[in-house]
Amino acid sequence: MDRCKELRGKFIFLLLTAFIFIILAAVKSPQTYKSFPWMYKSISWRSKSIPKKSIRVPHNYQPVCPLQTPAQTIIPLKNTTHLLVSAYMDQRLKDWDVRIIGIFRRDSIQPLHCVFCCNGWFYSTSTPAKIIQHTDNFGFPYVTTDVMCQIPQDCNATYVTLLPDSVNVADQTFLPIRNNKTSGTEVKKFQFNITVCISNLFGDYNNVLQFTQTLEMYRLLGVGRVVIYNTSCGPDLDRLLHSYMEEGFVEMVPWPIDHHIKPSRGWLFSEHGGDIHYFGQLTTLNECIYRYMDRSHYVLLNDIDEIIMPYQHSSLMPLMNTLQQQHPKAGVFLIENHIFPKIHFEPSGKFHLPQWKGVPGINILEHIYREEPDRNIYHPYKIIVKPRAVEQTSVHTVLKHFGEVFRVPPDVCRIVHVRVALRNLKLEQHNVDTRLWDFHQKLIPNVDKVLRRVGLLKSGADGSDGQTHI
Ligand SMILES: *[C@@H]1O[C@H](CO)[C@@H](O)[C@H](O)[C@H]1NC(C)=O
Ligand SMILES: *[C@@H]1O[C@H](CO)[C@@H](O)[C@H](O)[C@H]1NC(C)=O
Ligand SMILES: *[C@@H]1O[C@H](CO)[C@@H](O)[C@H](O)[C@H]1NC(C)=O
Ligand SMILES: *[C@@H]1O[C@H](CO)[C@@H](O)[C@H](O)[C@H]1NC(C)=O
Ligand SMILES: *[C@@H]1O[C@H](CO)[C@@H](O)[C@H](O)[C@H]1NC(C)=O
Repeated sequence: MDRCKELRGKFIFLLLTAFIFIILAAVKSPQTYKSFPWMYKSISWRSKSIPKKSIRVPHNYQPVCPLQTPAQTIIPLKNTTHLLVSAYMDQRLKDWDVRIIGIFRRDSIQPLHCVFCCNGWFYSTSTPAKIIQHTDNFGFPYVTTDVMCQIPQDCNATYVTLLPDSVNVADQTFLPIRNNKTSGTEVKKFQFNITVCISNLFGDYNNVLQFTQTLEMYRLLGVGRVVIYNTSCGPDLDRLLHSYMEEGFVEMVPWPIDHHIKPSRGWLFSEHGGDIHYFGQLTTLNECIYRYMDRSHYVLLNDIDEIIMPYQHSSLMPLMNTLQQQHPKAGVFLIENHIFPKIHFEPSGKFHLPQWKGVPGINILEHIYREEPDRNIYHPYKIIVKPRAVEQTSVHTVLKHFGEVFRVPPDVCRIVHVRVALRNLKLEQHNVDTRLWDFHQKLIPNVDKVLRRVGLLKSGADGSDGQTHI
């Protein structure tokens, strides 16, 4: 009899223990939280495991994370004057795993801590953050800033945020950690050969014709994707861009920088005032390099009215393959910018096409006079990079990089840049350069097709009209 009671006691004890384990296992799963949030209201023991020293957890602490994820591209970091943009895995430097790109106010930098979500759970201790301001700030109060974080051991990090001392973790927005494929550093096959990053569309820019011609030139040159950071634009350009987005050739990144700080329209604080250089151009260029690091073989950092043009190759990949063979260690290629003043027109008018009459903007095919740069003064370059070789970039040079830098001779490749004159030379002092015309047979019908699609082509006219003039 006693033996039987003893067994029954043991059995009940085992049953209870198993039950408790099942409950604990269920409580630990984020899935359970999502299904039964009420369970957490009464469970306070979890927050005791969070060291008070590093993270203050609010009273109604929820064990699943992230609590908030961004709906916007630019996120204020609460309890600071800074803005965060995005977070990327970056294990190229010893000791660091994650790079957060932000816009920091230079006069109020404070210590920050990195807090991680590891597969849906808070990691209970923070790690110290290293704050690196980019050296180019042109005197503005705000500067592009990298914050480097170390992922704690045993954490499959999915989200990260930064905390100033003594702030609640619940208040902060978490950034998803992108480029998170950890298997092998060398990606063998890229989705894109060449990506063009265009920083900062702003104001009511509505130069539709030049823009369409430029995008279609990119396409003929082998560009797979064009990324545009958009603060605002004119109505016709907006329609055009939506059409390119649907097709997948263009990625628009919303860039509402003016909702947060006062962007400058100029490049120098002492002359133009404002909070940050050119609507945050430096931040967008850096962001774009990381955004396409794992997806694109090369990234071109351009303005909207610039075409990086090979003069000895039919398109950009053959050019890059040649350059890379000659300079295997190069990761950065500098291309000379050449101005084609928009006041000088080609005299025959053969590309003054009737169907483009009502389309707002410059017709780049009408401008063939190229300024010779004044090599006694500073001559600006634009950049083609292998993104994996770049850590930080500026507009005309890279700030931190791994490979070598190569200056591409202008007879091999130069930038065709139709805009206001830089040097005010006489017409006969210009070089005649009709390189763009080599592409007219494909370019004109392609431009017409796009303009027709968005209803901007004069009705009745089409590309074949244009061809008869040539
Ligand atoms: C942080 O900011 C929030 C509002 O965003 C405020 O309620 C809170 O008191 C601030 N905390 C500290 C420590 O400044
Ligand atoms: C992290 O992910 C790997 C692979 O998905 C998995 O094997 C490992 O158990 C995970 N570790 C933790 C702590 O979640
Ligand atoms: C990488 O990030 C993407 C998007 O945030 C996510 O869907 C994916 O699960 C992540 N992969 C890993 C291995 O963390
Ligand atoms: C990339 O360029 C190569 C030529 O160098 C070409 O064969 C290949 O199809 C291109 N890939 C893409 C994705 O455009
Ligand atoms: C660009 O941004 C403005 C302002 O947010 C918006 O109205 C417009 O639709 C955007 N255009 C595109 C093509 O994303």
